[in-house]
Amino acid sequence: MSKESVDLNNKTILITGAAGFIGSNLAMRLLDATEGSTIIGLDCLTDYNPVELKEWRLQQIEEKSKTSTSTFEFIKGDMADKDLIFSLFEKYHFAIVVNLAAQAGVRYSIDHPDTYIHSNIIGFYNILEACRHYPVEHLVYASSSSVYGGNKKVPFSTDNKVDNPVSLYAATKKSNELFAHAYSKLYNIPSTGLRFFTVYGPAGRTDMFYFSATNKLREGGTIKIFNYGNCSRDFTYIDDIVEGVVRVMQGAPEKRNGEDGLPIPPYAVYNIGGGTPENLLDYITTLQEELVRAGVLPEDYDFDAHKELVPMQPGDVPVTYADSSALEHDYGFRPKIGIQTGLRRFAEWYKNFYM
Ligand SMILES: NC(=O)c1ccc[n+]([C@@H]2O[C@H](COP(=O)([O-])OP(=O)(O)OC[C@H]3O[C@@H](n4cnc5c(N)ncnc54)[C@H](O)[C@@H]3O)[C@@H](O)[C@H]2O)c1
Repeated sequence: MSKESVDLNNKTILITGAAGFIGSNLAMRLLDATEGSTIIGLDCLTDYNPVELKEWRLQQIEEKSKTSTSTFEFIKGDMADKDLIFSLFEKYHFAIVVNLAAQAGVRYSIDHPDTYIHSNIIGFYNILEACRHYPVEHLVYASSSSVYGGNKKVPFSTDNKVDNPVSLYAATKKSNELFAHAYSKLYNIPSTGLRFFTVYGPAGRTDMFYFSATNKLREGGTIKIFNYGNCSRDFTYIDDIVEGVVRVMQGAPEKRNGEDGLPIPPYAVYNIGGGTPENLLDYITTLQEELVRAGVLPEDYDFDAHKELVPMQPGDVPVTYADSSALEHDYGFRPKIGIQTGLRRFAEWYKNFYM
């Protein structure tokens, strides 16, 4: 697909979910990689993950901004607040918007559906409406591998049908893609959705397996291994995700008219995943080794005594496996950091941060 080049220098860029795992890393990367840009980070600091960790991430961004010619400003606010979103777009006239704010998590959506509708549906709708009234060069937004549901055909390709979500979270992410398509078509808004595959790394999300398992093991608790360990995940290290997002930000789907004289929607969706699914038990073995190596757990830790094999959870899927060839074709990039390197960096960060 043809792309319109988007220069990230001297631009005003909105990142929603800027205190989150991916958003904070993106903000730091943009401070490094851009000149003269104004980066506005919006986040309402939900307590789904520890607020202290979000505040720590914001401090890291603040530190980074001291050595950048670009600036970062944090705004605490809720994306579902339409007046706030419109006032920000009116004030800053964003050139590029990266929507990462969301209520994440598959399991949490079983018991807390309201928050998914609030942030992922109303919040995202507000962003689209604002992009309609204050046109942007490129809207990039987070989708998820969860849209593939229980698809059996692997690797997952964006050409596959994804009409059978198995969680409300997945349904909201698929809805985001549908909403974006309609807005791209109706209002010629260049938009790119990115289906992220299990992103992990230092200062990541505490609800994700590698992080919650580390906490549990340290406390001497027992970790639950779902589907009796019979699942595999396409883990993607945070730096690879950020590299992918930054590249995608710089290439917006081209605006063109069709034979009917009306715009062809400048719309695209990509997978961004490691492309080498790891069996969960192998992943856990690597995690254990790296936790011992970093000194988070003692060498004689009895891992077998702290593991329980349990059945699959509602909303979970047995396998995720990304076909990221379209991303590689259009943006010349595919994730490359393996789990040993990635988990080593996580374990070392964890040791420094908590111990
Ligand atoms: N991390 C992953 O493995 C993964 C995988 C697939 C998709 N995603 C998607 O990528 C995006 C970023 O994920 P993450 O891992 O950084 O999650 P995260 O939870 O760390 O970050 C999301 C941030 O959004 C904020 N937020 C939530 N609702 C908001 C609202 N209404 N208004 C303003 N801020 C709000 C939260 O406070 C949080 O800091 C999300 O859209 C997520 O669904 C993540």
